Amino acid sequence: MGTERKRKVSLFDVVDDSLAKKVKSNGGANNSVANALINRWNARPYSQRYFDILEKRKTLPVWHQKEEFLQVLKDNQTLILVGETGSGKTTQIPQFVLDAVELETPDKRKKMMIACTQPRRVAAMSVSRRVAEEMDVTIGEEVGYSIRFEDCSSARTVLNLTSGFHRYLTDGMLLREAMTDPLLERYKVIILDEAHERTLATDVLFGLLKEVLKNRPDLKLVVMSATLEAEKFQGYFFGAPLMKVPGRLHPVEIFYTQEPERDYLEAGIRTVVQIHMCEPPGDILVFLTGEEEIEDACRKITKEISNLGDQVGPVKVVPLYSTLPPAMQQKIFEPPPPPLKEGGIPGRKIVVSTNIAETSLTIDGIVYVIDPGFAKQKVYNPRVRVESLLVSPISKASAHQRSGRAGRTQPGKCFRLYTERSFNNDLQPQTYPEILRSNLANTVLTLKKLGIDDLVHFDFMDPPAPETLMRALEVLNYLGALDDDGNLTKLGEIMSEFPLDPQMSKMLVVSPEFNCSNEILSISAMLSDECVLLGCHQQLSSLGSMPPVGMHHRILIPNCFVRPREAQKAADEAKARFGHIDGDHLTLLNVYHAYKQNNEDPSWCYDNFVNHRALKSADNVRQQLVRIMARFNLKQCSTDFNSRDYYVNIRKAMLAGYFMQVAHLERTGHYLTVKDNQVVHLHPSNCLDHKPEWVIYNEYVLTSRNFIRTVTDIRGEWLVDVAPHYYDLSNFPQCEAKRVLEKLYKKREKEKEETRSRR
Ligand code: CDP
Ligand code: MG
Repeated sequence: MGTERKRKVSLFDVVDDSLAKKVKSNGGANNSVANALINRWNARPYSQRYFDILEKRKTLPVWHQKEEFLQVLKDNQTLILVGETGSGKTTQIPQFVLDAVELETPDKRKKMMIACTQPRRVAAMSVSRRVAEEMDVTIGEEVGYSIRFEDCSSARTVLNLTSGFHRYLTDGMLLREAMTDPLLERYKVIILDEAHERTLATDVLFGLLKEVLKNRPDLKLVVMSATLEAEKFQGYFFGAPLMKVPGRLHPVEIFYTQEPERDYLEAGIRTVVQIHMCEPPGDILVFLTGEEEIEDACRKITKEISNLGDQVGPVKVVPLYSTLPPAMQQKIFEPPPPPLKEGGIPGRKIVVSTNIAETSLTIDGIVYVIDPGFAKQKVYNPRVRVESLLVSPISKASAHQRSGRAGRTQPGKCFRLYTERSFNNDLQPQTYPEILRSNLANTVLTLKKLGIDDLVHFDFMDPPAPETLMRALEVLNYLGALDDDGNLTKLGEIMSEFPLDPQMSKMLVVSPEFNCSNEILSISAMLSDECVLLGCHQQLSSLGSMPPVGMHHRILIPNCFVRPREAQKAADEAKARFGHIDGDHLTLLNVYHAYKQNNEDPSWCYDNFVNHRALKSADNVRQQLVRIMARFNLKQCSTDFNSRDYYVNIRKAMLAGYFMQVAHLERTGHYLTVKDNQVVHLHPSNCLDHKPEWVIYNEYVLTSRNFIRTVTDIRGEWLVDVAPHYYDLSNFPQCEAKRVLEKLYKKREKEKEETRSRR
């Protein structure tokens, strides 16, 4: 191991890059100076690229405040840093900290790390890749990332490393780490980035870290944000000092539409084409809401612009959304295409993105922003226990951030596809924190596991509604994760280890009892895969006359099925071949089995209209779930495939987790959700060949017509067997389902009596 790697890093031992420059100019002849050309993180000489990037880094606004930042950090335990998007917070601050902070513990064998949380997976991956480049190291070694179901920072590396180590991780992952390491002892400095996003996990981390800081005087916390209600944050974090990084924004001219737009997707595409035809060079950024919509827009933009022929410059249209494969994500950083011929019209890059590009990722060179005013957002109604992702209007703060993206490198223009009146009257000032819009069952389970018993007095920055907390406690009690006093049970402990919804964890944990854990693992993995949003813009009314939240149409399909426009019939036939008459969960199981039987072959996927990427990711998720199961000695088993009970056992195991998500077919021909009595319809994507009397569903889709999606046929008797505590009739609203259940209970009693008398 080289001596350079052993070099002690002390506070303010900042790498002297002026020295490096000197060396560069004299060709590195001087030996002592040549050491400055050695990367202390891996003892290798710096590459030319390192110096090139270094020059760019020095132009970032935060660079000029490095000394000041480190001084404030030295003098305080907590520090709040606010700076415009693109000022270098995410990429530079962790490196400053790494340069300055002593990472050795008194116990010399132990090394500490720096954590920087990101609410978005894409940002955690992309930023860590960038920082690895800036530090001239290999990703996964000194710099790593950790997101749900994917860790790119091996344990080996942490232990082997003599120098520091830092990594970017999602806020949700840091929260999970706190479950096994309550004082987060492996970290010396924790940076909560994108705090203004106020995600559920970040909000919980706020409260948690306040406690941890009291118990760990050596730990430091940096809260970073693009815009922030600064006083609120300062007040919350014991009056921590606030540091502002001046932005270097150029003016951005804002344009509104005269009339509300009927179809924002169509209007967005039209605006792109107009800009490309009429405006001077500069890249375009369009904000849309999800994968399908974005892919659709990219196709249409490319087509319309190619129709214009060579009277316009060439374009490169790039999509950006969270489920995009990493190699594709990198494309947003590529330069615009060169002119078709020398001296020709310059090319333009057109990025079509979700909210990711609002603050988490900075794309240089954007001059035009198109903002239709919508984003996919989570909403929760505790009364009927329904959480849904809805395409809803953004806030004024978001609109402001979006327009800011146009003025990073030069003066820009932002086209808002709604009226000025609508902006002033209809948009809320701030986006509500996610904690006020979420089902908290999972969060409460995590908090309980973290040893926080008194949820009512937990120091939330914005406390959730008591009703939401009560609902969460109730759900966990029904699932058996909490006892009647609200304490975590043994089952609850195990459930909390799964990075899944409590219903799904419960189903997995009990599946060995139903002799079908292999199959339940596969189904869970298939359900955990990301879902996509499908063409919802047509039904949306314009921002000018917004329907109340909850009325937007949303159609979700699991993205394991591909349905290309030009081959819809063939795709539907292919899907039907996987169909299982008893339900969609079993259909997903069929797809997974067929994928494995065909050796995970991508061309088989293509031929069968199945998304290879989705299945590969499901397979990865499954492996991780298997590991968690093994940790708790949960048996992997299957019922004999030829047994009549094969599917029965699977369906019963699913019910053991999802008994609160059941709907009953009424004589009127409608389904009513059990206990909540909401009228729902089977989603048209279902593959049942009949209308079962009882179904369990995976998801409730809120629209003007409420759908239940991914449904499977179950039997009324099983409700009584598997979840008698929930189907306790003394505590049941009057409805048809209750009358049916009454009969079922009576039948059960009679059967029991008969067996007794036979004995
Ligand atoms: O966090 P903040 O928005 O303040 O800025 P940042 O993400 O640290 O980005 C600072 C600069 O780094 C950007 O303006 C880009 O020039 C560059 N960058 C990049 O080239 N590639 C990335 N993946 C991330 C940042
Ligand atoms: Mg950032």
